[in-house]
Amino acid sequence: MQRSFDVLVVGSGIAGLSFSRKVADLGHSVCILTKKERAESNTNYAQGGIAAVTSSTDDFELHVQDTLTAGDGLCKENVVRTIVEEGPARIQELVDLGVAFSQLDDGRVSLHKEGGHSKRRILHVKDLTGKAVEEALLHAVETHPNITLLEHVHAIDLITNRKLALTGHEVPCDGTHILGLYGFDTKVQRVMTFAAPAVMLCTGGIGQVYLYTTNPGIATGDGIAMAFRAGAQIRNMECIQFHPTALYTSSDDRFLISEAVRGEGAILRNMKGEAFMAQYDSRKDLAPRDIVARAIDSEMKKSGSRHVWLDISHEPEETVRQRFPHIYERCLKEGIDMARQPIPVVPAMHYLCGGVRTNLHAETGLTGLFACGEVACTGLHGANRLASNSLLEAVVMAHRGAEQVHQYLASARRPEVRLPDWVDGNLQDSDERVILSHNWDELKRTLWDYVGIVRTTKRLERAHTRIQNLKREIHDYYWNFKVDPSLLELRNLVEVAEMIITCALQRRESRGLHYTLDFPRKLPTPVDTRWAVQR
Ligand code: FAD
Ligand code: SIN
Repeated sequence: MQRSFDVLVVGSGIAGLSFSRKVADLGHSVCILTKKERAESNTNYAQGGIAAVTSSTDDFELHVQDTLTAGDGLCKENVVRTIVEEGPARIQELVDLGVAFSQLDDGRVSLHKEGGHSKRRILHVKDLTGKAVEEALLHAVETHPNITLLEHVHAIDLITNRKLALTGHEVPCDGTHILGLYGFDTKVQRVMTFAAPAVMLCTGGIGQVYLYTTNPGIATGDGIAMAFRAGAQIRNMECIQFHPTALYTSSDDRFLISEAVRGEGAILRNMKGEAFMAQYDSRKDLAPRDIVARAIDSEMKKSGSRHVWLDISHEPEETVRQRFPHIYERCLKEGIDMARQPIPVVPAMHYLCGGVRTNLHAETGLTGLFACGEVACTGLHGANRLASNSLLEAVVMAHRGAEQVHQYLASARRPEVRLPDWVDGNLQDSDERVILSHNWDELKRTLWDYVGIVRTTKRLERAHTRIQNLKREIHDYYWNFKVDPSLLELRNLVEVAEMIITCALQRRESRGLHYTLDFPRKLPTPVDTRWAVQR
């Protein structure tokens, strides 16, 4: 069965919802596909908040400079300026939609401070900012007459003129044009065909490629892998941000302890109880994340410990409980009263700074394919994202993307091609689930052990060999078994793993989040790493 729309949006986090609302307001029919329940996204778990210049003691130039400093030479300055300067208008729109940012007792907006920021500039809703934003945006799209939101539909692959030509269809073949996509409806266990001249990828991050991550299960790099298979260019995949402070427990779960906790005075201590950050950076506990994560890694290696401590017990109990109610409750569930005792923390994979290359209009270089949010690499974050700049980028780029898609649709070719149905053939249901779960495990462990905070060429090469073997095995499954979400995600993750390792081997220097013992210095000229299908 084929369904047709003006625009298909993959993902219902901040990027997908913000974009959909805007482009639907411009009169276009929009279908949002999302692979789980509508709110399930990285956005929903965001704690610290959104960075934007809203205080009279702050200014755009300071925010620009903080972003450029964190990005370690790899940011695109025009992109940084545009996103920083357009931020306040987009924040006001969130307020207009009903996001009630926390206020101080005197009625002024409460601004958090996080690592790398020279000013307090993080707007937040206590420590549940993402949930508040997600709820407000969902309400706006659910009531919009031009928007159809389909839950439990897992986008598999984009349909392009080139792919159709390969299967014998007569279609124009000047460049690559997007015609739609295939999506697996997990409720009815069927692959559906969706046709549209424009697709906006808002599929978020890739955290699940690592064993320990702050990201929920949806973060499997689907959009990056789909865009790559369609021919889009991917950039800077080695720039993986490890958040310094995830709650350490004996399980694989890594609940985030927001950087805003350090912004309110929390201190990192080693197993001897010593505050160690001054030895690593003059900004101490509020240095950019790459520096703090490496410092913790080094302290853990020195002492052989499984975690370090994050201590805010010197602050008044009431302040801690009022500012961080969600984190406080979660720690309490683990038996830790953070107002009275230090929290055991470890770094965990948190954010991808690389992704599908786009310009400042969310265009990917393939006609009709756009990308926005964590899936995209605009050049804002460079080699290391400044805290709380991700939600900012998503809302600004969603707005810009909507304007661009509106223009594109005015002139887009809409070829009268009936898209072919998905062919499943006589494939078997996968009866080898156990092997699939071993593959998941091996993939995540390989990335964690060999492509972590501190890298070497030898470890990267080992990881490369393992991933190549896994890739062959997983592709074999993909072609021989019926569609299944776990297999689709694994296929995407193994491609993402290959991109990370290949880009890491390309970068023969240490810059931002990519730190290798074999090339500890920075090269004089910063360049992006790239990964694309060779045509
Ligand atoms: P997401 O919000 O992750 O949404 C992706 C959507 O795509 C989901 O709906 C998902 O189901 C869907 N999807 C994925 N693949 C498919 C597919 N194949 N088919 C259909 N649907 C698909 N950033 C900040 O700026 N400030 C913060 O305070 C902050 N805190 C964070 C805390 C945590 C714990 C985490 C994990 C991240 C945090 N970040 C923060 C980062 C930020 O939340 C994310 O970068 C941002 O929310 C990404 O938004 P997005 O819309 O691009 O993707
Ligand atoms: C946090 O609250 O520490 C996360 C902020 C971010 O990822 O930008």
